[in-house]
Amino acid sequence: MTVSASKFYSSGTDTTDVSLESAFFAKLKMRNGTFKLTQPSRFQELEVAFRPYLEERAGSLREILDVGVSTGLTTVELARFLKDCGAAAGIVATDLFIEAHIVELAPDFRVFCDPEGWPLQYDVRGITVRPWVRRLDYVTLAFIPLMLGRSILQPRLRSRIRAGMSRPVQMITRSLPSNGEIVFIENDIMCRSERFIHRFDMVRAANILNTGYFSSDQIHIAIENIHSYLRGPGALLMIARTNRARENAGTLFELNGNGSFAVLKRVGGGSEIEKLVLEFRPATADG
Ligand SMILES: C[S@@+](CC[C@H](N)C(=O)[O-])C[C@H]1O[C@@H](n2cnc3c(N)ncnc32)[C@H](O)[C@@H]1O
Repeated sequence: MTVSASKFYSSGTDTTDVSLESAFFAKLKMRNGTFKLTQPSRFQELEVAFRPYLEERAGSLREILDVGVSTGLTTVELARFLKDCGAAAGIVATDLFIEAHIVELAPDFRVFCDPEGWPLQYDVRGITVRPWVRRLDYVTLAFIPLMLGRSILQPRLRSRIRAGMSRPVQMITRSLPSNGEIVFIENDIMCRSERFIHRFDMVRAANILNTGYFSSDQIHIAIENIHSYLRGPGALLMIARTNRARENAGTLFELNGNGSFAVLKRVGGGSEIEKLVLEFRPATADG
């Protein structure tokens, strides 16, 4: 049975069980239709292949941006990997959805939802009910109460949250190191963030800039933003995608002096968006 958000976020819950944690988050469907999916140890072959390049540059890897981290489980592994490579780096971990709330609407009815009141899980007397609609629900007509419930509850949930009548929590892993080297920020990679400009020595985008999910134009915008977030020549960009068989295709790029990217190393044939990254040229002052 799925654990309820109230139980999951209660202090007594085992803080180290990453499989229980992954199972809890994997059942949460965000309002853009994606699930909070991530898996431990998914990038081992990337770490082996990229290690020499990171070790060589360890001294200059101080600030890292990890984009689209889900719960940040693999960000914790990235932090460990960077340390193993000899880098003393801080990591900014971003995702579209990090903040969430537990709202008690009645004594036996709690809703776990995002800050806009989008329900992620219902909890009726400790029994969890998914708010999202799956294909079978259209056959059984279960979609009717689910959709009706959501449209009735969302405004109420949102106003409770605005009124401070909720318990705010973060949808992040509890396997975080306590030294504060990883900072989570809600952020959309498609929107330029001024506070990230020229800040990072390395950016990683793993399992996010996928061609099946984003159009080429959107990926171009993301590359443009990532480019602007890199500190300058010599900075690194790591792009990877894991397939169903848990194999990775990824490329480690380096930023050239002229603002273009060069390939340092490929794994599994390289990233599917490698061509887009290599074709990228920064806009000049005259456009
Ligand atoms: C499949 S998970 C990848 C998690 C982790 N990087 C990994 O490889 O295990 C993709 C994540 O990207 C996030 N995401 C989707 N669109 C995004 C955007 N425009 N900006 C930031 N994050 C986004 C989703 O919310 C989701 O958590």
